[in-house]
Amino acid sequence: MRIGFFGDVVGRSGREGIVRHLPGLRRRLGLEFVVVNAENAAGGFGVTESCAKELFAAGADCLTLGNHSWDQREALTYIVREDRLIRPLNYPRLAQAPGRGAHLYETPAGQRVLVVNLLGQRSMEPILDDPFSAVDRELEACPLGQACDAIVIDMHADVTSEKMAMGHFCDGRASLVVGSHSHVPTADCQVLPNGTAYQTDAGACADYDSVIGNDKEEPLRRFTTRIPSARHKPAEGPATVCGVYVETDARTGLATRVEAIRIGGRLSQAVPETKAALEKSAL
Ligand SMILES: [Fe+2]
Ligand SMILES: [Fe+2]
Repeated sequence: MRIGFFGDVVGRSGREGIVRHLPGLRRRLGLEFVVVNAENAAGGFGVTESCAKELFAAGADCLTLGNHSWDQREALTYIVREDRLIRPLNYPRLAQAPGRGAHLYETPAGQRVLVVNLLGQRSMEPILDDPFSAVDRELEACPLGQACDAIVIDMHADVTSEKMAMGHFCDGRASLVVGSHSHVPTADCQVLPNGTAYQTDAGACADYDSVIGNDKEEPLRRFTTRIPSARHKPAEGPATVCGVYVETDARTGLATRVEAIRIGGRLSQAVPETKAALEKSAL
């Protein structure tokens, strides 16, 4: 199976990047299931129904969230109606967070894909439940290659060691563990020893002439003077759409290949060569 995951979509630039590049990537790479992190889709803060619909129309099958899940209040009720939108699994039980932290999807070809969204604990809100215990329960309830054909885990976390530990914790039990939240793609994509594809951070879908997707003026002012004088707002130049491409074994659901995707905007470009793409270019 061929799966795409795209990191945090930041504001209008990120949404326009997805609208511009995702349909072509779906065709060129033959993507059968696409997950997009949408926690910054609405002006950098959270997600609204209209932003989510834009991303679904461009080819996202599932949207994940993160520490910005509830920045837009309407997300609290929209998520109850829309099962293609999931939020982190490990909010404290007493929070009774609306929506789901994991969901099993079925593709038009009948492949079952479990998507799990987790929030890290290190250098994030300290009140979260343990993401390792939370994902362990999901993986036990839905074994890869038996109850589903692929498992995608979005580990939305700040600290690289916590994300890497999560990759190894799920190795052999998930198709892909990928980090989000850093808004910078890491150069470490690999298939781990037991068959789980991994990248510490997918990177953002954002304008990279920025400070992690935000217009650079205000962050620079804050770093240099320590005096905040305006709200952070997303940078508006063309986005680089950043993500990972994974191929899985039809029988086991484990990864046979993982590659970084970077398309559009300023970052060096990377689009995996696939059989489909090679056949097309030979025509
Ligand atoms: Fe983010
Ligand atoms: Fe985040």
